[in-house]
Amino acid sequence: MSRPALEAIDVHRTYQLEGVSVEALRGVTLRVDPGEFVAVIGPSGSGKSTLMHLLGCLDRPTSGTLRVDGRDVSELSDAELAALRNQTIGFVFQAFHLLPRTTAVENVALPLVYRGVGRAERRRRAVEALQAVGLGHRLTHRPTQMSGGEQQRVAIARALVGEPRVLLADEPTGNLDTRTGEEVMGILERLNAERGVAVVLVTHEMDVAGRARRIIRIRDGLVESDSVPAGAARDGGVDGGAGEREARS
Ligand SMILES: Nc1ncnc2c1ncn2[C@@H]1O[C@H](COP(=O)(O)OP(=O)(O)OP(=O)(O)O)[C@@H](O)[C@H]1O
Ligand SMILES: [Mg+2]
Repeated sequence: MSRPALEAIDVHRTYQLEGVSVEALRGVTLRVDPGEFVAVIGPSGSGKSTLMHLLGCLDRPTSGTLRVDGRDVSELSDAELAALRNQTIGFVFQAFHLLPRTTAVENVALPLVYRGVGRAERRRRAVEALQAVGLGHRLTHRPTQMSGGEQQRVAIARALVGEPRVLLADEPTGNLDTRTGEEVMGILERLNAERGVAVVLVTHEMDVAGRARRIIRIRDGLVESDSVPAGAARDGGVDGGAGEREARS
């Protein structure tokens, strides 16, 4: 059995806000294996983004154990945690988080700066990542000169450029129209199928979640269910969504 890419054991996260504590996660246990495609769903405020931030090493649990690529994050300094994140995880936010006055290539190359990759190599890999998401013709555009779907694809390219084992995406289609959301989903599915990148995505759209091979349902800071959606267990699936996936690839 391969080592889990991500593993949470009885993870709690409590926020302190003006003297009041909010228990955003109240004991979450789950693992994500290499190459999985998982959707995380649940009501607003149930703790999905909090969980993604923890899994993505952007935050630490209040208690419980979190392992990323087999390493217990509580044993790492902030700098070590940042390095582990940089090497293992790509993060795609709903609101893109791109630098607005910086070209697509430079936005995508940025994570490689922190790894000490040389300038020419950074550019080569950034161009390659942009081509992989169908943006080879938008290399020098700035985010302000791009559509929402294009910006989201730049954000995916940036998450990919370091060749992460896991891609975490928090509502990657939430700000996009249906057709553009479809394109972004197609890219995530292709990365998963062709490169074996594990994908964990938060969504509130059931047709998006239905395309995952596993659905984790969060409610009130707990995992309410963790299951394989109907149609996903069989090759190619049985529902319309899975059929589309086949048609596109
Ligand atoms: N930085 C913070 N400080 C205090 N409370 C927070 C903070 N971030 C989140 N919370 C609270 O923690 C709970 C979980 O928030 P979280 O953002 O994880 O929910 P979510 O499931 O992602 O919701 P949505 O679907 O609306 O994005 C909420 O009650 C929220 O108000
Ligand atoms: Mg959220």
